[in-house]
Amino acid sequence: MKDILILSIESSCDETSAAVLRGQEVLSNVIATQKIHEKFGGVVPELASRAHQVNILPVVHQALEEANCNIKDIKCIACTSGPGLLGALLVGVSFAKSLSLALNIPLVLVDHMQAHVLAHFIHRSNIEISTPKFPMLCLTVSGGHTQLVEVNAPLDMRVIGKTIDDAAGEAFDKAAKVLGLPYPGGPLVDKYAQEGNPNRFQFTIPETPHLSYSFSGLKTSLLYFLKKEVASNPNFISENLSDICASYQNTIVTYLLKKVQKALDESNYASMSLAGGVSANSLLRKRFLELGVKNKIEVFIPSFEFTTDNAAMIGAAGFFKYQAGQFSLLDEAPNPRASII
Ligand code: KG4
Ligand code: ZN
Repeated sequence: MKDILILSIESSCDETSAAVLRGQEVLSNVIATQKIHEKFGGVVPELASRAHQVNILPVVHQALEEANCNIKDIKCIACTSGPGLLGALLVGVSFAKSLSLALNIPLVLVDHMQAHVLAHFIHRSNIEISTPKFPMLCLTVSGGHTQLVEVNAPLDMRVIGKTIDDAAGEAFDKAAKVLGLPYPGGPLVDKYAQEGNPNRFQFTIPETPHLSYSFSGLKTSLLYFLKKEVASNPNFISENLSDICASYQNTIVTYLLKKVQKALDESNYASMSLAGGVSANSLLRKRFLELGVKNKIEVFIPSFEFTTDNAAMIGAAGFFKYQAGQFSLLDEAPNPRASII
């Protein structure tokens, strides 16, 4: 069973991706990022669905080719069924169901957020990796979610804290938009921040109960701050871009880690990890590692390829579900609002 070949598909948002895994080992991971949304400053759901329809076949072909494998060797199809954009999910799920039917092989539908966490269990050929010990605390930060997840086993996890409004990725992307940077702005805020002074401007760290987060006020405070400064100096943003990015990013990261520390104080974890698109952020990665050292806990940070949306993580989650016999029926529908308990 460990050598089973899985074809996996991810189409929940604006990345069309396909991967081939042999068990937990990734053989290929092809990602087509949709550029069409850039000029709209955010993902346009209908355009995303259409782009998935155009991309899905070439991406699957390329994944099979790079893995040097024939479609007839595939023994299981794994696919994201939610959360995400309904139209976008439908493209991947319909494609996966058709393949499952045509090849007469099992279909495994996968929760996207669970898959982000399970990206830590992807292996690469000839590379020895240590995998996280349980219980693991995972901070999952993406464009649509911000969650603290207690992971007791690959298929046994529960959300112990989450955002009550915007996600951390949205806080980055919306800030980038008001700063005049293109979508998705998170990586650009990160880039400019690297040359800036994180202590130059002060943004208040939100006060939220227990392990919950809230990012909408932070975004608004940046907006008001900029309005005020630009009123007296129209060039304020361009003259201070790096310092604004560094200060704003520093606030987000400090806030994210404050709750991670709180969770660590409340329970005993054998490991801690980061997952999701925002885990590509350089300051978050650095400070998360430092927090692990301070708490004497082993830290797992995903390699960049597995931070933002990718099908390899869907394949890893699919493998665990396959092993557990958790197959899906052909009449199961995608669920845009799915959530891990
Ligand atoms: O996980 P993901 O690819 O998609 C969702 O499931 O939402 O995450 C995308 C998010 C976007 O908000 C993007 O701006 C953010 O991840 N992101 C970053 C960085 N790279 C990607 N945010 C901050 N710093 C980065 N380096
Ligand atoms: Zn994601």
